[in-house]
Amino acid sequence: MESALISGKTRVCGIIGDPIEHTMSPVMHNAAFRQLGLDYVYLAFHVHQEELDKAIDGMRAMNIRGLNVTIPHKVAIIPLLDKLDPLAEKIGAINTIVNDDGMLTGYNTDATGFLQALLESGIKPEGKKVVILGAGGASRAISFILAGRGANLVILNRQLARAEDLAHWIAQVFPEETEALVLSEENLSLTLATADILINTTSVGMVPDINETPVPAELLKPSLIVFDIVYNPIQTQLLKEAESAGAKTINGLDMLVWQGALAFEEWTGRKAPLEVMKQEAMKALGHEN
Ligand code: ATR
Repeated sequence: MESALISGKTRVCGIIGDPIEHTMSPVMHNAAFRQLGLDYVYLAFHVHQEELDKAIDGMRAMNIRGLNVTIPHKVAIIPLLDKLDPLAEKIGAINTIVNDDGMLTGYNTDATGFLQALLESGIKPEGKKVVILGAGGASRAISFILAGRGANLVILNRQLARAEDLAHWIAQVFPEETEALVLSEENLSLTLATADILINTTSVGMVPDINETPVPAELLKPSLIVFDIVYNPIQTQLLKEAESAGAKTINGLDMLVWQGALAFEEWTGRKAPLEVMKQEAMKALGHEN
């Protein structure tokens, strides 16, 4: 439904990051606000690291209702907030802020959005052997939420020390087995032979390097569930090859939409129109169906 564009009562949400121009979030959220006839607007703000504290002061001063937070601010922003949701506190990174009359609370809907995308596909992580590629910020949120749901993790990373640090941290919190290995063809072959789920959290295969894949095609098999969190392109080389191998696949768009939807619900108290958000993100990514 169409409503007046901007009024004296319009509530403001947005996203802060550096760089920020390529974000899909404004199209998703503005479409969702329009769909529900909500007097809200969502903008992208380019915020440099050294001005993060001023940006958060501005959020309070101008009563901005909510912000998404992206690279490189997801960890550095934490001391500037008043409260953290318990999951966000454990993960040590946030991607969503809710402003309740000056009280700023941080959430991590990357983690919960990832989990929703998985559950929505009918996959339960409990007791599954999950091979996770990458040990950066995204892997941290995903590894934590999966370990919390009783999955057994093997984290493979190019820099072994980062995988070891992450596995060590997970092992301190959860009883499930968590292993760390260097990302090599040999270790992929070894671990994928008995894995239920493979998750790519690295940037391998992202535009412009769309022909790259972190896993040789011959290691993919029909019994594997392959989740690539890269969403540009929506169907990465890894997902193409997984599909050819007969594996079930989940793409990064589902996680992108879910993390946005969960933030939207925190800001507005309304159920997010997931399908509209997904269609708009797809259009923005150059898919017209
Ligand atoms: P994010 O927040 O998206 O996870 P990040 O913290 O920069 O971003 O992490 C990027 C991840 O992609 C890391 O695991 C990185 O591996 P290293 O820790 O070894 O750098 C991984 N990565 C990026 N480019 C890669 C490549 N060409 N091959 C393998 N791994 C790569």
